[in-house]
Amino acid sequence: MKPTNSPKTYRVKSFGCQMNVYDGERMADMLDKRGIVPAPEGEEADLVVLNTCHIREKAAEKVYSDIGRLTKAGRKAGKEPLIAVAGCIAQAEGEEIMSRSPAVSVVVGPQAYHRLPEMLDKAVQGERATDTDMPAIAKFAALPERTKRFPTAFLTVQEGCDKFCTYCVVPYTRGAEISRPFADLVDEAHRLAERGAREITLLGQNVNAWSGADAKGDSCGLDGLIRELAKIPELQRIRYTTSHPNDFYKGLVRCHAEVDKLMPYLHLPVQSGSDRVLKAMNRSHTADSYLRLLEEMRAARPDIALSGDFIVGFPGETDAEFEETLALVDEVGYAQAFSFKYSPRPGTPAATMDGQVPKEVMDERLQRLQAALNRDQLAFNEASVGKTCEVLVERKGKLAGQWLGKTPWLQSAWFEGEVAIGDLVEVELVEAGPNSLAGKLRETVVA
Ligand code: 5AD
Ligand code: SF4
Repeated sequence: MKPTNSPKTYRVKSFGCQMNVYDGERMADMLDKRGIVPAPEGEEADLVVLNTCHIREKAAEKVYSDIGRLTKAGRKAGKEPLIAVAGCIAQAEGEEIMSRSPAVSVVVGPQAYHRLPEMLDKAVQGERATDTDMPAIAKFAALPERTKRFPTAFLTVQEGCDKFCTYCVVPYTRGAEISRPFADLVDEAHRLAERGAREITLLGQNVNAWSGADAKGDSCGLDGLIRELAKIPELQRIRYTTSHPNDFYKGLVRCHAEVDKLMPYLHLPVQSGSDRVLKAMNRSHTADSYLRLLEEMRAARPDIALSGDFIVGFPGETDAEFEETLALVDEVGYAQAFSFKYSPRPGTPAATMDGQVPKEVMDERLQRLQAALNRDQLAFNEASVGKTCEVLVERKGKLAGQWLGKTPWLQSAWFEGEVAIGDLVEVELVEAGPNSLAGKLRETVVA
């Protein structure tokens, strides 16, 4: 590679889950600190960080088409950008990317991105650099202070996964489960709140497996951390995602009943309603144990909005087993959910299992499942009409005077009135659509 000028502008493009969004923000913080600025909207950047996702094939294909598009656009403009590939594809296929895509200068995994600035220095000198080491936790201490102001913020508290569901690449790309220390998290949350965060979402691949020692040195779980963060006065709302059914415990359920700032929303993936499929997935819970857990949650917090993830067409899934998934959906009545066609991932046990389901069958099942989930989401929104609730103002709406925010149940709500981003306002929900609600402003709660 030829030496090149130091980049002056950057763009970080994050794909996939919220943990990638958090990582993308932290990489942007590092670039800001170096004096590189975000490229203006519509302009090509000198440096592009593709923060990739490996979870399904479709997500993974995007990186190569993006690299192709960037190189072509760069050639046309007479200035090819520096390309850094970060995230889970970088971790899983770093070498392959380097050999397949000569335009890529940097490959950096999710546990090594704190070294991005040094790697860029090398790239500017014409050296290609790869770092996919997985040192536990080191990166967080090495990251710069966060400076941007947002009313909502993500805070990664736990990373990695030891569950080894047979379809999933995460245990291979993100490594073993680790929890960030209590004191670091409380500190980061305080600083986020000082910079305007009114809502923090605690992130982890298995966030409810978080464990640590509190200020007194006593061991505590996610509930202890949530109770501590709830003491931060500026912080009005706490959420967490994604949980695993097997990591739930009474204390966390109780937290939903007792901590007002913990929002009434739970994302709890189940993947399938069939016990045979769940076993083949190595989920180590049953449809029934999952449903009982949701019952406990509803007993603790009757208005809780439930969300889940589903996979259709796991190898060997029969029509009757798929019907069990539909039956589970009917029983739960989700407020929101995410559903995917099974995608074989290289190196996972399910990829080589017998009984791979034909694409047409998966398409048909996904359509039926999504129709049921959409029906329930609309029903949940419709049932909210008439309620008055707090909405955290996140951004301006499309029309002048219009604002958009989230209800406690994570629904998007829009309304008109004299408010500012970051206000927590009382809104009466007056009309429901499939993806949002219209509201009427009542009064400003927090200025
Ligand atoms: N194919 C399809 N969906 C998958 N997920 C994880 N791995 C796969 C795969 N190989 C889905 C699961 C998980 C969500 C983040 O992505 O539903 O909960
Ligand atoms: Fe993947 Fe299962 Fe771990 Fe979730 S719990 S990240 S689906 S292996």
